[in-house]
Amino acid sequence: MRQLFLIFYFLLFTTSLSAAPDGHKLYTKHCSVCHNENGMGGIGLPLNGEKVEHFPRDYLFKTVRLGREGRVMPAFNKLSDAQINSIVDHIYSWKKNPEVDTYSDEPVKGDEKNGQNLFLQKCSACHGKDGKSEGLGTGVSVSRERKFQVVPPALNNPGFLAAANDKWIRQTIKTGRPGTIMPSQKTLQITDQELNDIVSYVRSFETAYQPPKALEEDQPTLVFDSPYDFMTTIANLKQSLQGLNFRYFPDRYMEMGLAPDKLINRKQLSLRFCNFRQLYKMINTEPRLGVVLPCRVTVVEQPDGQIKLYVMNMKVVSRLFNNTQLSKTADEMHEALMELIDEATL
Ligand code: HEC
Ligand code: HEC
Repeated sequence: MRQLFLIFYFLLFTTSLSAAPDGHKLYTKHCSVCHNENGMGGIGLPLNGEKVEHFPRDYLFKTVRLGREGRVMPAFNKLSDAQINSIVDHIYSWKKNPEVDTYSDEPVKGDEKNGQNLFLQKCSACHGKDGKSEGLGTGVSVSRERKFQVVPPALNNPGFLAAANDKWIRQTIKTGRPGTIMPSQKTLQITDQELNDIVSYVRSFETAYQPPKALEEDQPTLVFDSPYDFMTTIANLKQSLQGLNFRYFPDRYMEMGLAPDKLINRKQLSLRFCNFRQLYKMINTEPRLGVVLPCRVTVVEQPDGQIKLYVMNMKVVSRLFNNTQLSKTADEMHEALMELIDEATL
């Protein structure tokens, strides 16, 4: 009886703990790699300083939930509302003034056409002529030369437009982002009416937005059994590759280059292949993928004689890049890969 009571007490205690998520810990785990432990910024924009005094809660919440699709900022669709709110509270702990600004959802009315002209004159040098900002696909890439200390965010981004209401966009342009190159209304020399015109133009980038879905199966590597022996499995794979119009590269034993030739384990072979059309499409959308492509299936004979096939789960890996276009191509590739495995092990 007493034990039961203790268990009950324990459950009560631990559930009350999990009811209040630790925003600092969650921030460290999910955000600090890019935004820095204290919000100083890095790959991600700075979050502290003057700007944190103005961030509305709704904007921060939605930015975390929806991310910035096609840029580096991920969508955190597995965190609970309470967890995201605790992260937002942690960001607010950097504020000097504890009061939090709110901006009504009322649309800002302006002349979109005039806004477009002004945008080309005043904003496009940094945010691109159509609000796309610099570069392809990502906010910052390792290989790309950077013109600015802080990469100007994309303003045509569906995640940004879903998170920021008109009044908040207006406020951002009014104050600029002190400490960065983003100028204020005053520096830009624009009138209040012109400011409204620019906001309506930025809003016109918006199209219906579907937030990216979380995946059910999220194993980055998939493992399959083959009913055949090592050599037959490899022969089957090669035959299916040809049938499915894949090109394959010379065979590679897993330990090639790592051990002297004679000692290489010849019961572990990587088959590397690709469909060039898909491959180019993917690398064009996301140059950083060069590291993980082409596709491969690794065939391994276990000590008990069982043959295992290992393949990278393109569906999961591509989601790391938060880019719908890329995910679509990766899903096509995944289908082809599953067909290949099916054929070779049937
Ligand atoms: C992999 C890197 C990365 C991670 C992880 C990341 N971010 Fe970001 N974040 C970015 C980038 C890059 C941008 C700028 C988007 C752009 O370039 O369009 C950004 C933008 C933002 C913005 C908009 C800032 C502004 O000035 O309006 C907020 C807010 C933000 N991130 C919060 C977070 C929080 C909170 C987390 C953790 C839950 C997080 N981010 C995790 C890279 C990241
Ligand atoms: C000299 C370069 C530059 C110019 C010109 C400029 N911006 Fe920016 N803008 C930036 C940078 C850099 C940031 C990110 C700064 C930060 O928050 O750290 C930014 C941030 C923003 C943001 C916030 C977006 C977000 O994700 O947080 C908006 C909105 C914005 N700019 C709109 C405009 C508009 C509209 C104009 C023209 C009226 C303009 N900017 C002109 C560089 C510029």
